Amino acid sequence: MPDVLEEFKKYLEFLPSLGFKEVYLSFQAKEVFAKMRSKKELLEEIRQKLGDCKRCKLYQTRHHIVFGEGNPEAKLVLVGEAPGREEDLQGRPFVGAAGQLLTKMLKAIGLSREEVYICNVIKCRPPGNRNPQPDEIEACLPFLLEQLKVINPKVICTLGSISTRTLLNTNTPISRLRGQVHQWHSIKLVPTFHPAYLLRNPAQKRLAWEDLQLIKKVIEE
Ligand code: URA
Repeated sequence: MPDVLEEFKKYLEFLPSLGFKEVYLSFQAKEVFAKMRSKKELLEEIRQKLGDCKRCKLYQTRHHIVFGEGNPEAKLVLVGEAPGREEDLQGRPFVGAAGQLLTKMLKAIGLSREEVYICNVIKCRPPGNRNPQPDEIEACLPFLLEQLKVINPKVICTLGSISTRTLLNTNTPISRLRGQVHQWHSIKLVPTFHPAYLLRNPAQKRLAWEDLQLIKKVIEE
């Protein structure tokens, strides 16, 4: 639902508390309101459209589609690469070792997993956790783009090079893209290292913590 309509709906809902008992709307306005969906409903519609997806070969080896989860009204959306083994088994994003670090990273800026929305560029696990292939990204990306447009957060944080390069449409290395605020359509985008990379390279955590502070600043702006 466009933000302006959402604001208008909130205003209409507020009117009874001011003593208004009836509001007259034109037929056109009634039609618009009848078609209005909450962000939660719109995300459910995207999930339904995805269905029992067989758009790429990964359906042959997956256990579960990992659509994404969290607050549809989130100010921050985190975008990873692809589900790993644990995520594939549970059907939830970032629930393995990298996910535990991600939860700690969020806590460091005062956010819980429930407050944000977490998803991936591709929704099925590549066998052996190999990198997603271009045809797999191409098949899955439209669903991520729809999720991002519906949630319309204040900030998108891309985790690692695959999600960063995919959304920013560049081949520049993540080490040169992180630490700055980029733009994805009208939404600010801050890349940082993937938590799985940070588990292997703990010395880089300091830079990731700087990125998190930047994200916090942009959310609070
Ligand atoms: N790595 C990712 O990129 N996404 C997950 O959901 C889990 C691990």
